[in-house]
Amino acid sequence: MAPQSEQARRVVVAAPRGYCAGVDRAVITVEKALDTYGPPVYVRKQIVHNRHVVENLEQRGAIFVEELAEVPAGATVVFSAHGVSPAVHSEASDRGLKTIDATCPLVTKVHHEAKRFARDDLDILLIGHAGHEEVEGTTGEAPSHITLVQSPDDVADVEVRDPAKVAWLSQTTLSVDETLETVGKLREKFPLLMDPPSDDICYATQNRQLAVKQIAAHSDLVIVVGSSNSSNSVRLVEVALEAGAKAAYRVDNAGEVADSWLDGVHSVGVTSGASVPDDLVQGVLELLVSKGFPAAVEERLTEESLVFALPPELRKDLRSGA
Ligand code: F3S
Repeated sequence: MAPQSEQARRVVVAAPRGYCAGVDRAVITVEKALDTYGPPVYVRKQIVHNRHVVENLEQRGAIFVEELAEVPAGATVVFSAHGVSPAVHSEASDRGLKTIDATCPLVTKVHHEAKRFARDDLDILLIGHAGHEEVEGTTGEAPSHITLVQSPDDVADVEVRDPAKVAWLSQTTLSVDETLETVGKLREKFPLLMDPPSDDICYATQNRQLAVKQIAAHSDLVIVVGSSNSSNSVRLVEVALEAGAKAAYRVDNAGEVADSWLDGVHSVGVTSGASVPDDLVQGVLELLVSKGFPAAVEERLTEESLVFALPPELRKDLRSGA
């Protein structure tokens, strides 16, 4: 019979986790572009923020570049799920590149909101992280109207032209709770602050945070699978800790799970960011079994059924057999 400590061990895997509709669409876009046009297909920036996905596509003939200047004339280039600014579209057009835009439609929605608020000449307070590609793309829609607000602590220093004409938007992959705190502080400072027409933090980010909260409170350890540049994965670690996990770590794959994390641990929660293929999560679950933990039980918060159509420019070529 197993000792008492063995009997008490449990592993809970959160659901929803892993791929969201925007990531799924972006990855399939590059795969279909490779099938349709043949390699190489260039991709500006990482198509999604996951090292394994990028390496896998590289092996199939995708070439990832930081800027369009690295793409040879006449080549096909895919824009990543995080979106690009109008200046990048113009540059591609000026250079005669064939482009396929894999920007997540939920990021495009935020771009439209930015354009509309800017047309109304509002100052736009964009809550997000400096340097993130999505923030760069959204800011590029209305650079003279947008001010970046990175955290609740930034609010004190925010200045606007007219406190009666100010709106907020956000990056799609932020912590829901921290964003609400930032908005609360902004509204204290600017009582006439206008809201976006609908949530900017996307359904997938929200669901993964709620799902990890549900398992974190009764976990000694939470393991989040996701890459270090994945905003929503990094947020899942923070959310797990805030929700009561005794410890939480992010790993790219099972090989990064340290034995010392498991010392004295009885309950482990596992989840993954929106850009993570599920075989990487299964790898972590198998590792836990090899360390004496039982098979995982899934705790599902909700079902997700959203699917986005592929970019129209790619669908056209698929139809014509280009
Ligand atoms: Fe889109 Fe949200 Fe995924 S913005 S790419 S559905 S994390």
